[in-house]
Amino acid sequence: MPTPINTPRLRLSGIDKAFGATQALRGVSLVVAPGEVHALIGENGAGKSTLMKVLSGVIRGDAGTMEIDGVPYIPADTLDARRRGVAMIYQELSLAPHLSVWENIVLGAEPHRFGWLDRAEARQRARGVLARLAHEHLDLDRPVGEFSIAEQQVIEIARALLAEPRMLVMDEPTSSLTQADTEKLFDVVAQLSAHGVSVIYISHFLEEVRRVAQRFTVLKDGQTVGSGEVAATAQTEIVRLMVGREMSDLYPQRSPQFGGPMFALPAGGLEVRAGEILGIAGLIGAGRTELLRAAFGLDPSTVVHTTPARRWSERVGFLSENRKEEGLMLPLSLAENASLPKYKTLARWGWLPVSVLNAATAPWLEKLSIKARDAGQGAGELSGGNQQKVALARLLAYPARVLLLDEPTRGIDVGSKAQIYELIAKLAGQGCAVVMVSSYLPELFGLCDRIAVMRRREVVACKPTTEWTEQTLMTAAVGADTA
Ligand SMILES: Nc1ncnc2c1ncn2[C@@H]1O[C@H](COP(=O)(O)OP(=O)(O)OP(=O)(O)O)[C@@H](O)[C@H]1O
Ligand SMILES: [Mg+2]
Repeated sequence: MPTPINTPRLRLSGIDKAFGATQALRGVSLVVAPGEVHALIGENGAGKSTLMKVLSGVIRGDAGTMEIDGVPYIPADTLDARRRGVAMIYQELSLAPHLSVWENIVLGAEPHRFGWLDRAEARQRARGVLARLAHEHLDLDRPVGEFSIAEQQVIEIARALLAEPRMLVMDEPTSSLTQADTEKLFDVVAQLSAHGVSVIYISHFLEEVRRVAQRFTVLKDGQTVGSGEVAATAQTEIVRLMVGREMSDLYPQRSPQFGGPMFALPAGGLEVRAGEILGIAGLIGAGRTELLRAAFGLDPSTVVHTTPARRWSERVGFLSENRKEEGLMLPLSLAENASLPKYKTLARWGWLPVSVLNAATAPWLEKLSIKARDAGQGAGELSGGNQQKVALARLLAYPARVLLLDEPTRGIDVGSKAQIYELIAKLAGQGCAVVMVSSYLPELFGLCDRIAVMRRREVVACKPTTEWTEQTLMTAAVGADTA
């Protein structure tokens, strides 16, 4: 039977899902047309990932119905969902790090010949999807764990495309991509959409949503609170639906007063003064993370001879970009996480004044409005953005003089971003020196006093924020030779 015109590609009705006492979804409905790019928007913990996990067969909903092209759809598991045309790119990368690129891409969809795995065919298919993403140069035989996060994200997308999906879900796909890779991804999304593939796109970057999506749905506390045409809806209206109130300014008003130099970064004589917020811009791979890590004594450096333990005792705090491995102990509770590493990280970071942190942490959970049942909940059960906030709370609880922050607002919703900016500004106002690496230019411009740009592991320029434009900054980051 042919699909009647106007039958939506996807129809979700009345989806409920509870995790113990947490009602993550209540009666959620969502309709997506063939070839439509639909943005799913909402605060951290609103239920976006949960809804998409129900759709892609990771978990079962407690109630509700799903239809694809008018046919009832109840996936048994993720492979079943994939076979039925629903592919998902997860917020947390889901690749097997020890398997090679091609093995990861064809996993679960391996081509066979006479009952044997057809390696040549598998490799060719893997190469084919990578080419669609302009990444055919990746070494197919290298273990995925050896690639950068951004490259792993491309591999993850390639894996999803291999199944020739009718419905593709992308959960914050650009959070660790460069601007150039983000552009490539937008091209791929447009190309898929032109071929009739429907895409659900989750992002906290509303500017991106505006570019890729035609329609949107906003979730709040597990419920649908609005949907509509992106072009016909003002940004402020979308934000109001998300946070449930008018939001005036994302960035705090500051009148910074600088003291003397407080901390020297091991590059280009870069110093940050008391009360100053120094931003570090650059493309992925430009050496920004390395710079912060070396400054904190994390990776062996020929320039800086220090240790994290020594840095902590000097009241220098560090927020790793890699929250999953270095920011949080996912099986531990929030309280244990927030009161800091008595456990594994202790070995890595050396001695830590746990008692100080224990007492100081609780208020931060509230200040950052971390959405959790209670402090005993496992950090791994929190939504992606709330996990990020726990890592940050843990750091902010420490009375630091210098803060080294690597992508502090990645994956964090607009309302919470504003809270975090406010907190950072307040700490700077109290004389703290802040160094902030970010790939999100608006926040560098909105919050920083000076911005340094790195390229090929060197600081190529550092100027007061008012002397930069997004254009000049990007030119500096890319370099004249590749412009
Ligand atoms: N496995 C789980 N066990 C318990 N609670 C969970 C589990 N997974 C999600 N939750 C809870 O369900 C709610 C919705 O989480 P979800 O991950 O869907 O949010 P989200 O909208 O994707 O947020 P973010 O923008 O931070 O990624 C949260 O309160 C979260 O703590
Ligand atoms: Mg999520």
